[in-house]
Amino acid sequence: MALRLGDIAPDFTADSTEGTISFHEYLGDGWGVLFSHPKDFTPVCTTELGRVAALKPEFDKRNVKVVGLSVDPIADHHAWKGDIEETQGTALNFPLLADSDRTVSDLYDMIHPNANDTLTVRSVFVIGPDKKVKLIITYPASTGRNFDEILRVIDSLQLTANYSVATPVDWKDGQDVIIVPALSDEDAKGKFPKGWKALKPYLRITPQPNK
Ligand code: BEZ
Repeated sequence: MALRLGDIAPDFTADSTEGTISFHEYLGDGWGVLFSHPKDFTPVCTTELGRVAALKPEFDKRNVKVVGLSVDPIADHHAWKGDIEETQGTALNFPLLADSDRTVSDLYDMIHPNANDTLTVRSVFVIGPDKKVKLIITYPASTGRNFDEILRVIDSLQLTANYSVATPVDWKDGQDVIIVPALSDEDAKGKFPKGWKALKPYLRITPQPNK
C-alpha cells in the first residue's frame, strides 16, 4: 500500500555516491528529505540536482539531510556528477542513491507505471525526527520541482513541531502564523506572550514566534 502522511518512513540500506547508507541511522535525530528523479544525464534532473546542491546550506541550517535517488547504477551517478558541476556551477554535495534493483523505489511507491513503467517519477518525502512522513509531493518527469517551496514547507512543519502554530495560505518566513485550534485560549496565554488577534474564535493570528 502507498505511504501516507504519519506513516513511519521505511528504513533501507542502499549504495550511494557517498557510500552505503542505512537510512534511519543516516538521518539520526534530524529531519530528512528523500527525493527521486527519473534518470541520469537528463536535462531537468541536472538542473534540480544542481539547485539542491546550492541549497545545501539552507537544508543544513534546518537540520535536514537530503538524499536523492534514481534507478540508475552508481557508475552513472559518478559519471554524471561532472556534468552537474560544469553546467549548474555547484558540485553534488549530498548522497544520490543508486536504486538499480528498485528496492527503495518500491518501498516508497516512486514508480508510477501509468506514467512510466521503469523510471521513478519526481517524488519528495519530508521525514521528521520521529521518522514519520510529514509531506509527500509528486511531480511529473517534465516539471522541475521548486525546492524553495520544499524549504518553505519544512519551515512550516518545524514551526508546528516547536511552537504549536500552523501557517496560513501563501505564508512566507517572517509573516504572521495561526495558533493551532487544539490549543485553548488559556494554554495559548502562556505560549504566546506577544498575544494574538482573534478574527474568529478558531482563527487566532500571532507573530511568528521564533522571530
Ligand atoms: C529530465 O530530467 O529532463 C527528464 C527526465 C525524464 C523524462 C523527461 C525529462
